[in-house]
Amino acid sequence: MKFSNTLIYWYLQNNRDLPWRKSKNPYFIWLSEIMLQQTRVAQGLSYYLKFTETFPTVFDLANANESTVLKMWQGLGYYSRARNLHFSAKFIANELNGIFPATYNDIINLKGVGDYTASAIASICFNEPTAVVDGNVYRVLSRYFGIKTPINSSKGIKEFKVLAQSLIDNKQPGTYNQAIMDFGALHCKPQNPLCQTCPFSDSCIALEKNITKELPIKEKKIKIKKRYFNFLVIKTNNNKTILSERTGKGIWQGLYQFPLIETDKKIQKEELISTEDFINLFPEETTISLFNKKEIVHKLSHQHLHTQFWVIETKNHTDASINWTEIEKFPVPILIAKFLENFQSIK
Ligand code: ADE
Repeated sequence: MKFSNTLIYWYLQNNRDLPWRKSKNPYFIWLSEIMLQQTRVAQGLSYYLKFTETFPTVFDLANANESTVLKMWQGLGYYSRARNLHFSAKFIANELNGIFPATYNDIINLKGVGDYTASAIASICFNEPTAVVDGNVYRVLSRYFGIKTPINSSKGIKEFKVLAQSLIDNKQPGTYNQAIMDFGALHCKPQNPLCQTCPFSDSCIALEKNITKELPIKEKKIKIKKRYFNFLVIKTNNNKTILSERTGKGIWQGLYQFPLIETDKKIQKEELISTEDFINLFPEETTISLFNKKEIVHKLSHQHLHTQFWVIETKNHTDASINWTEIEKFPVPILIAKFLENFQSIK
């Protein structure tokens, strides 16, 4: 049997009896879909009933105070959803005479409405075959088709949307969309899916390969740390500078660098010269200029180094033992090598 037929057949026997399913009124469907984002049906249900009773039409919602709306939303979380809902209700009431937009392209222009919500409303209320892709859909499709593309990668987002769209039942898209979401929520569950009694068990790739538990795959997004480096490029009267070897573990171990002052944000000259490290290194007067007017951002896998090179002219300095003529002999990080190339070329 066709994928969509099997799914709809399952849905007709197992669907959840939910209050918004008794209606095709786009205002009600919109309310329910916004409420159910990042929220389980069991939690959203009482809010839906309360909202539709207090605000039976889009005009009632539009005429309410924002604080009343937020108070009623209390406990659902992600309050920007409530603010956007109220904003869009006023737009529909005042600019569209209360007439809800009737196509995916118009619905998605409402504030707070993205691809998922526009697809749900367009399909359920207006029979437009636009496939929804929510967490349930990612799970069902990745398992059934054995797809390992991470669902939170841009490749994955495109791939699953195209696949979902190719599977939709064009005659009853709203039913199909709700069927696949219910199937994911009730049958093809994140933990302990009911594979023994699954109508797809003879053709599900994940079941065949025993990889149900691994799917769907989510890419771990590493958090990139921003660091702010200030290198002190010293030029003494007798043409010397300071370079020192980086010790300890970590990036650039064993390579040489100019004295480094790390700060927690980008700093100006005045802030630099008042740091303790700077004062210790240069108790006497110096001439300072910033070499790169725009900070250089050196990107490593886990950190971005926002770098400023400060050229400091000073009298002879006890720590400055390296002659500028021999600087090229020292192994330096590529960030410093590039600086040296520019710096030497304009000297
Ligand atoms: N989750 C959010 N909206 C839903 C819907 N219309 N049907 C099933 N699950 C959902």
